Amino acid sequence: MKILICGGAGYIGSHMVKMLSEAGYDVVVFDNLSTGHREAVKWGTLVVGDLLNKSDLKALFEQHDFAGVMHFSARSLVGESIVEPAIYYENNVVGTYNLLEQMRHSGVDRFIFSSTAAIYGNPENTPIDEAHPKQPINPYGHSKLMVETMLNDYARAYGINSVSLRYFNAAGADPSAQIGESHDPETHLIPNILRSLLLEGIQLKVFGDDYDTPDGTCVRDYIHINDLCQAHLKAFDYLGSHKGAMAFNLGNGTGFSVMEIINAVTEVTSKVVDYSVEARRPGDPAVLIADSQRAVKDLNWIAEYTDIEKVIETAWRWHCQQSY
Ligand SMILES: NC(=O)c1ccc[n+]([C@@H]2O[C@H](COP(=O)([O-])OP(=O)(O)OC[C@H]3O[C@@H](n4cnc5c(N)ncnc54)[C@H](O)[C@@H]3O)[C@@H](O)[C@H]2O)c1
Repeated sequence: MKILICGGAGYIGSHMVKMLSEAGYDVVVFDNLSTGHREAVKWGTLVVGDLLNKSDLKALFEQHDFAGVMHFSARSLVGESIVEPAIYYENNVVGTYNLLEQMRHSGVDRFIFSSTAAIYGNPENTPIDEAHPKQPINPYGHSKLMVETMLNDYARAYGINSVSLRYFNAAGADPSAQIGESHDPETHLIPNILRSLLLEGIQLKVFGDDYDTPDGTCVRDYIHINDLCQAHLKAFDYLGSHKGAMAFNLGNGTGFSVMEIINAVTEVTSKVVDYSVEARRPGDPAVLIADSQRAVKDLNWIAEYTDIEKVIETAWRWHCQQSY
């Protein structure tokens, strides 16, 4: 079965490509390499192209007969989206519209979408389940919610069936250490701590230690990359027997504070993390934890990496191999 992975040169997409290839799928990666890496596509076929270029998509779908599409391509920096919203609406909304239109014309009707906890905005309760109000507080979150809205309409009108997976914080790397997390700029906590240990003269910044949490630092839900990818495999199968536009949260249901992550990194690496405490960043809620019971029940999915040190250990192994 041939599957198209849009954004397969990126962090999450490249792990998905590996898992699908190992499960026997024929994988084609479509990526403009704007934030992805050619060397991360170690399995399947890479086609360099842009979702904003309709002729790239037309040529791709004429050349291949896809059973379905997994769509990881997006711009995903919250701060940048506030300063440059146009880029986000163009890349994330128009780009996805172009892709869905091409699928419609080519008769491809299975779609998995990388959505995000950012569609919920400030949590009104915790843990957050799928029924939580959707009130994004930045253009990035809005762009993802717009796509989810589009997917509801495309399922009803055109029979394109989809699963939107609302990720909390993806973390870790494949245990083989062949691929890992590499963003520029890097805004995620775990890679930033690990880079601060490996790079000269970098001090970690902790944004706020006066939140209403046990140690005052923000609490987040970290889901291992391979648990996340397993859920995509299950969601793809689910679409074989379920019609419509469905959505599932993906997290591991446990929150860890920034200080707990720093201490866990020291435990794994035996290195002391040098950090400074800075002012809070605007728009950072104190606690973000997922209720993923719907995915557990309907997709028959379970997170295997519940030990945060194991998650960090896989990331550390990959980071140690990079030439910083
Ligand atoms: N990393 C996380 O913790 C997290 C959390 C929630 C949601 N997400 C979502 O998951 C997806 C993957 O995230 P990631 O961390 O792997 O990001 P990433 O930046 O590593 O990967 C995105 C990939 O999409 C490609 N791309 C972007 N725009 C494109 C376009 N117009 N045409 C073709 N290719 C394009 C990039 O080159 C890159 O390879 C994104 O949609 C992101 O919003 C990620």
